[in-house]
Amino acid sequence: MSVPVFDAFMYPLEAVSLRRRRRRLIPRASGRVLEVGIGSGANLPYYRWEQVESLTMVDPTIPLGIRDQVYPVPVSFHPLSVEELPFPEASFDTVVFTLVFCSVPDNRAGLREVARVVKPAGQVLFIEHVLPPATRLHGVMHAINPYWRRVSSGCNIIRKTDEELTAAGLRIGEMERFGNGFLIAGRASRIVPG
Ligand SMILES: C[S@@+](CC[C@H](N)C(=O)[O-])C[C@H]1O[C@@H](n2cnc3c(N)ncnc32)[C@H](O)[C@@H]1O
Repeated sequence: MSVPVFDAFMYPLEAVSLRRRRRRLIPRASGRVLEVGIGSGANLPYYRWEQVESLTMVDPTIPLGIRDQVYPVPVSFHPLSVEELPFPEASFDTVVFTLVFCSVPDNRAGLREVARVVKPAGQVLFIEHVLPPATRLHGVMHAINPYWRRVSSGCNIIRKTDEELTAAGLRIGEMERFGNGFLIAGRASRIVPG
């Protein structure tokens, strides 16, 4: 789904509950920040710039409107996919992604990259839509998913991103379910062995 179409589609949800979660979550970003799947920049108004050292944006398609903005901190744009990030291990204090991993082709590889580039003492801030825990919906959602993917440019409604975060080497420290269980918001950190 193109970003303007996505924004129009998400408007009612954005108005009622997403905006509130962005407002709570994004101001916690600090230090060297990586935002994956920047889209139309829905999170940008919520950064507390005085605690952000730099902002690195990764998205296969970065709109001109995002590139042309003036930012209060150094920014860089990387038009590429999260599965192969060109950054050394432990590069970022904060990694942010919101409503992204539903459409990443190899979401586990992408989340492993997030776990690799975040510092051991860093944080991952996320909002995602997921397969809800109510199992009676699973059959319907699996049945609809192939058609949904086709009309939404690869968005999946059956992703278990909460479980995938853990499988990728991240520990979920805080997580809230909302939107009847279809959405999650929270904070994770890298699991440090030993
Ligand atoms: C639904 S939009 C969400 C945009 C924004 N984060 C928000 O919260 O409104 C999904 C974004 O993820 C990006 N995206 C899709 N696949 C990606 C990938 N493999 N790596 C990085 N970003 C990706 C899309 O280009 C799009 O901008």
